[in-house]
Amino acid sequence: MTLPPPSYNDNPKSFAYPTVHKRWPAILTSAIEDVSDYSKRNPGTEQCAEYVTEKLQGLLKEFKQDKQVRAFTKEEIAIKPELEEYNEELEKFNKQKVVTWLTGPWLYLECYFYQLIDVWFKQTKKLKDFDVFEAGKTKAFKQSGAGVVELCHRFKLLSEQLAQKSTDSTTLKLLFTEFIDISLWGNATDLSLLAGTTTLEDIKSLQGAEVRKKNEEKILVNDTEKAWEHLMGTARDRVDIVLDNSGFELFADLCLSLFLLDAKVVNRVVLHCKRIPWFVSDTMPKDFDLLLAQLGDEHFFDDASGDSSGSEAIGYLLKKVKQYHQNGTISTQSHPFWTSYANYWDIPKVKDLYEELGKSNLIIFKGDLNYRKLTGDLNWDTTTPFTEAIQDLASSRLPVLSLRTCKADVVVGLPKGVNEKLIEEYKKMGNEVGEFWTASGKWAVISFSRG
Ligand code: F6P
Ligand code: MG
Repeated sequence: MTLPPPSYNDNPKSFAYPTVHKRWPAILTSAIEDVSDYSKRNPGTEQCAEYVTEKLQGLLKEFKQDKQVRAFTKEEIAIKPELEEYNEELEKFNKQKVVTWLTGPWLYLECYFYQLIDVWFKQTKKLKDFDVFEAGKTKAFKQSGAGVVELCHRFKLLSEQLAQKSTDSTTLKLLFTEFIDISLWGNATDLSLLAGTTTLEDIKSLQGAEVRKKNEEKILVNDTEKAWEHLMGTARDRVDIVLDNSGFELFADLCLSLFLLDAKVVNRVVLHCKRIPWFVSDTMPKDFDLLLAQLGDEHFFDDASGDSSGSEAIGYLLKKVKQYHQNGTISTQSHPFWTSYANYWDIPKVKDLYEELGKSNLIIFKGDLNYRKLTGDLNWDTTTPFTEAIQDLASSRLPVLSLRTCKADVVVGLPKGVNEKLIEEYKKMGNEVGEFWTASGKWAVISFSRG
């Protein structure tokens, strides 16, 4: 079977286009500022900062001149052996058409971009472990105080009620749906899409169902029930979450994890992080530790300080996370595969990772980039079944649940006519390119494959 082509950076109807013309230069510009700020505050790092800054500025110029993308050097590969594979893939693309920054394949180049920045830092003596995106991640999380407190209150109420009575299976399923939605929209820019229910009674009520239904109109494919039925039929030992962004999204994922553990849906949760600074806001293992420290700092949030009921609710949740983390019930891993350019169809070929994920009863993939890698970032027709778009993964015995707010081109599993309708709707909302509804973050898909 011939596969559809991937998204390319020179297609004005692809979200690759604004990404390479606006987003990547903006990321580089703010990285240059952040390195400079850091080196001013940390005497002795100036020389290293200067070295990296020069490289980052050079890359900005390469974008402007649409230069050919070079192979990683021997020296760079000596520092990061995984770059060898990047070169092999680049060679394959070059055989079809010379790869330049503004015309090449989007997904591959976006991964290459973050590896390139990382290797420059790794080449220095004093900035080897510096995360150039950390200041930005922290700033964004600082502004999420109100959302964090609201979720903590909601979580506390629900978990106190859960502890009081034995919960029937229908209620558990509703709660699963609720926490899946929280984790899903934790990835979005617009959290107003979340249902506003707070108690078990609320959730079970007709009104609760109506609120959920209204919010779920934005979820174009919703396999939550299928995933729940699947999980209930397993040994219910372990759920894995392949994380996306740190800060608020990670916090929302921890709410989901705590529910799964407190309600005894499963015995443990494994969180998969990135090893290097990745796609700006992705979670590295140290971001997990940092988040716990930030939640424990009463003065951390800009907009929630001084509210004692807020700190109390945060404290309640934090205590639980810490306990589960200390006794290994919640653990973190970070396999280098997650920062390769490869599609997730390749997971069965990565022996150690495949074996590890094989122990899971449900693997939840968070966010947009994970979805792009699940579907190969190919221009599938939007009615293609999810199980076709994820190719070999569909028959890998790995149960996959993707929670994705749409922020790129590829979307699959839609009923006929939905794409066309949304293109028109998005245009009517005043947007020039109707096709960009798929990148607006306003719609979502929850897709399941039994494996
Ligand atoms: O701005 C575009 C982009 O970088 C996409 O390439 C990527 O898929 C997305 O942002 C990151 O989103 P997420 O954090 O949900 O994976
Ligand atoms: Mg991300």
